[in-house]
Amino acid sequence: MAAPKLQRVLFMAPFLAALLFVSAAASSSISSAAADDPAAASAITTTTIRGARRSLAAASSSSQGQGVASFSLDRYGARGDGKHDDTQALAKAWSAACASSQPAAVLVPGGKRYLLKLVTLPGPCKSSSVTFTVKGTLVASPNRADWSDADRRHWIVFRGVDGLTVNGGGSIDGSGETWWENSCKTNKALPCKEAPTALSFHYCTGLRVQDLSIVNSQQIHMSVEDCTNVQLTGLSITAPGTSPNTDGIHITRSQDVQVTNCKIKTGDDCLSIENGTHNLHVSQVVCGPGHGISIGSLGDDNSRAEVSGITVDTVQLSGTTNGARIKTYQGGSGYARDITFQNMVMSGVQNPIIIDQDYCDRATRCEAQASAVQVSNVVFKNIRGTTTTKDAIRLNCSKTVPCSGIALQDIDLKMQGGNDAAGSTCQNAKWTKSGTVVPQPCSSKSKN
Ligand SMILES: *[C@@H]1O[C@H](CO)[C@@H](O)[C@H](O)[C@H]1NC(C)=O
Ligand SMILES: *[C@@H]1O[C@H](CO)[C@@H](O)[C@H](O)[C@H]1NC(C)=O
Repeated sequence: MAAPKLQRVLFMAPFLAALLFVSAAASSSISSAAADDPAAASAITTTTIRGARRSLAAASSSSQGQGVASFSLDRYGARGDGKHDDTQALAKAWSAACASSQPAAVLVPGGKRYLLKLVTLPGPCKSSSVTFTVKGTLVASPNRADWSDADRRHWIVFRGVDGLTVNGGGSIDGSGETWWENSCKTNKALPCKEAPTALSFHYCTGLRVQDLSIVNSQQIHMSVEDCTNVQLTGLSITAPGTSPNTDGIHITRSQDVQVTNCKIKTGDDCLSIENGTHNLHVSQVVCGPGHGISIGSLGDDNSRAEVSGITVDTVQLSGTTNGARIKTYQGGSGYARDITFQNMVMSGVQNPIIIDQDYCDRATRCEAQASAVQVSNVVFKNIRGTTTTKDAIRLNCSKTVPCSGIALQDIDLKMQGGNDAAGSTCQNAKWTKSGTVVPQPCSSKSKN
């Protein structure tokens, strides 16, 4: 976890410069906004952002004179009392900002709660950059009747916007409790129905999402779909460990994505990396509770999957069901390759290292099938900590399409609390080891 601060600041410099430029006239201040919300102002977030701001103060002074048109929700009739519906005010403020020919900023003022139903904020916008600054709280209507069956899968959706920055240090609150109570995972007597994703980005390029809290989403907290050139940083995502299907960040059909400096505590995957993700770098992320970092599930319903170029680096997981995981259904095709999980610290994780090609999240058992998503060139490196089950390293690969190029290097996983040694089971995996690897890979006899 000791990546040098300088490196992080340098990494953030280009987009913070752009941010300071667009937000100068809107007088947005990252560090003061973060201070409004203690949850967002995690130690990690604020030190990085303050450091970056300091180092940029001089560099950006030449652009301070440029104007940014600011569009506050309050000027479009929003009440911000958490009771009246402010959806139309937001839609109008967005339309006006998006039609502005100069860089524009939509402002959600601080200290207030804006109640919203489903809202789509579409592009393309006239200006090459638009900022959406959340200082206060956007809160989802807790009334499930406000979501029609026509679209129960979304709450706030940005669609087709280029050069979008979402920031401000405020919160997005999904009011998820009523959805969780009515989930078929909570109450088996109820039918399984979709619930909204709090914040969705579809078809965005040059997307920056930084310094925000997202809490208690109805289902997935944030979803990035069909996007290119994305940086997500300084996010705090929180929901109870018992809340069903509340993934932190979901990424699919997107490329050139960076996720850095995020804290994610939820009831499902910390990050779910799905079909069509290429060139994703994750670093400085803290997860738990939740289900850990997952690539997949891939290949469900005999589908094709393509995932490549994934690096998960400097991640800390505590109390999660999985650590570094790749999960595929039987019967799929395609590939998941060139994947590195490194510099991970796990504490009390059930399955620290797991490739599961027999994944099945269904009421009835998934039947055996010959085809499979090919898993290859996967590195697990410098991973240490504690496991709560004996299977610290589990590689369960397809019989017909074995995993290949699985490299295990410098691993030290011990049973939590006890004196028992951790173990490892494998099927159909071609692996190599280097450095010290504890437990010895593939040492236990498997059950089948
Ligand atoms: C996954 O992505 C591939 C390649 O883009 C596509 O052919 C396939 O249909 C996708 N699978 C699913 C389940 O969407
Ligand atoms: C591994 O996968 C096979 C199917 O390929 C399944 O029958 C078996 O139960 C799995 N083993 C474990 C330990 O999960």
